[in-house]
Order: sequence, then C-alpha cells, then structure tokens
Amino acid sequence: MPYYKHHLFFCTNTRDDGEACCQDYDSLEARNYMKRRAKDLDLYGKGKSRINTAGCMNRCSEGPVIAVYPDAVWYTWVDHEDLDEILESHLKKGKPVKRLMLQEQ
Ligand code: FES
Repeated sequence: MPYYKHHLFFCTNTRDDGEACCQDYDSLEARNYMKRRAKDLDLYGKGKSRINTAGCMNRCSEGPVIAVYPDAVWYTWVDHEDLDEILESHLKKGKPVKRLMLQEQ
C-alpha cells in the first residue's frame, strides 16, 4: 500500500512579470480550502491523501492546475465547488472528474 493513496500537487506559483500563473486565481486560498475540506471529510493523511503546495508545473496557460498522482490526472478548477467535486469523486470514490481534466494527460 502506498504511503498516500493520492498525492495532489496544487500549483500556487506567482509571477511578477505579467505572465499567466496559477496565483492569478487565488490558488493559495483555494489550496488551503481544499486541504481543510479533505481533513473534514477524513480524506487526509497516511493511507489517504496529501495536498502539497507546488511551484510551477509548466502548464500555466491551462491553469490554475492540480496534478494527482499516482493517477497522473491533471485538473483545472474555477471555484470551491470544483474542488469539492474532486474530493468527493476522485479522492473518496476513485472516480476522476472528467469535466475538469486537462487534455493530453
Ligand atoms: S504557474 Fe501554475 S503551472 Fe505554471
């Protein structure tokens, strides 16, 4: 059994040069929200999931982005409801949320 069933890399990268970045979407606040909800739903910790802040993963123009491993599923999101759906469907039930997945997985 892997240490974490799902490991999420949540990009919160900021750029000061005007180029697109995930923090344009207040991704740090969203990451903190998702982590808090994962704990509330008992989806967080050893044998469950981990949500780590990540730097740029070079998919900035498709952002904001989250990568979920070991499934190698990449998501974009708009609001807290999208994050809730990823938690409920993917992390809880093991069913990726197709409508939020980036192309060319
Ligand atoms: S800033 Fe998030 S992928 Fe580049």
